[in-house]
Amino acid sequence: MAISITPLHPLFGAEIGRVDVGAPLDDATFAAIRAALDDYSLLVFHDQSLDDDRQVAFSRRFGPLEKTISANATGGTHFARQSNLDVGTGAVIPPEDRRMVYQKGNQLWHTDSSFKPVPALCSLLSGRVVPPEGGDTGFASARAAYDALPEAMKRRIEGLVAEHSLGYSRGLIGPDVLTETQKQEVPAVRQVVVRTNPVNGRKAIYAGAHASHIVGLPIEEGRALLRELNDFITQPRFCYSHRWRQGDLVIWDNRCLLHRATPYDTVRHQRLMQRTTVAGDAPTVA
Ligand SMILES: [Fe+2]
Repeated sequence: MAISITPLHPLFGAEIGRVDVGAPLDDATFAAIRAALDDYSLLVFHDQSLDDDRQVAFSRRFGPLEKTISANATGGTHFARQSNLDVGTGAVIPPEDRRMVYQKGNQLWHTDSSFKPVPALCSLLSGRVVPPEGGDTGFASARAAYDALPEAMKRRIEGLVAEHSLGYSRGLIGPDVLTETQKQEVPAVRQVVVRTNPVNGRKAIYAGAHASHIVGLPIEEGRALLRELNDFITQPRFCYSHRWRQGDLVIWDNRCLLHRATPYDTVRHQRLMQRTTVAGDAPTVA
């Protein structure tokens, strides 16, 4: 039976039904999911049977996976763990612990791995332990926002290049969120400000919290422009908020969406989300 596709928002996002991506998928079913990602940017699957191995196997169908940087609790693996539970002991991590402070950066609107020379294609986030309240994930369509930009702004940003840096975005949370070694691991990179989907030609604004400034513009002027673009993208009309259920898998297209984590009570509740990230195929700047 073919998958079902039910739109979640007038502009983007779809719930995908009649499939368990934890089970082996035939090529036609995977092709339908991959096409839906280009069309809808955000895919939600309920009641999935994923464990770590199955998540890696399914994620690899989209392309090679990124390795996590060392600032994440599972650095060096294919998993970017979003959790208040210690990897080894399973005990709740205190809010002031560096690992929890680092995760606060996820509450800024961003696109995953835009601070890497080849930024991510898509991320897959699997809800393994879901708190009873809080911890929703917000998504904003930078493609729908691009379409709605005034023509003068489209002309202004066409061809611009931004510098992205994890040191910059985590610096917005606090000065010591990254160690010196971690900062050296992720030197600043350049990304185009307008990205075009190679399949359907749809354009999207490419910005988010890691975007520090615009190459060739005074720092403050570029920063103001990026702020204006991020504020434009994250207007309520371009946003969808995902309320998690245990067993959900959410896939988003990092080329054309911003997303952010929202708070939950990290002392009273447990949360474990496993993210795999599919690498893009080339730098955005030649
Ligand atoms: Fe993220």
